[in-house]
Amino acid sequence: MKVLAVCLGNICRSPLAEGILAHKNQAYSLGWEVDSAGTAAYHVGELPDPRSISMAAKYGIDITNQRARQFKAIDFDRFDKILVMDRSNYGNVLSLARNEEDRKKVELILNYSKPGADKEVPDPYWDDNGFEHVYQLLDEATEVFIKENS
Ligand code: 4NP
Repeated sequence: MKVLAVCLGNICRSPLAEGILAHKNQAYSLGWEVDSAGTAAYHVGELPDPRSISMAAKYGIDITNQRARQFKAIDFDRFDKILVMDRSNYGNVLSLARNEEDRKKVELILNYSKPGADKEVPDPYWDDNGFEHVYQLLDEATEVFIKENS
């Protein structure tokens, strides 16, 4: 399985999702390929937000190898699943889809923990206290995603 986590800036939410997935990938010996990207280019080349780095480190996960990049249409060819954080990301990614096969790869990540609920991972950028909640939501959703796809 090749899985790509996507948010807006690729510095807060999707780097945590990538880190958690990469960590479970190793722990469960899945042999998956895991990456993340942002729909916007504002932070391209940057490290994850320090608050995401700290939250990952709290749970024993190092995400300082990551650098922000922008989602591109070619990612539809490189990945089997594209897990987006919110409806805005969903719309932005779908706007680059070239066909039905591309569109079928895109899912709201929290639909794995709460099927059909279309819940969003809240953007923690303006909320220092939001990172723990984001971590817990992503930990739960990625666990279900892995159970259903391995
Ligand atoms: P992310 O959070 O999409 O979870 O990486 C954000 C990062 C940066 C901005 C917004 C959200 N920004 O406006 O720069």
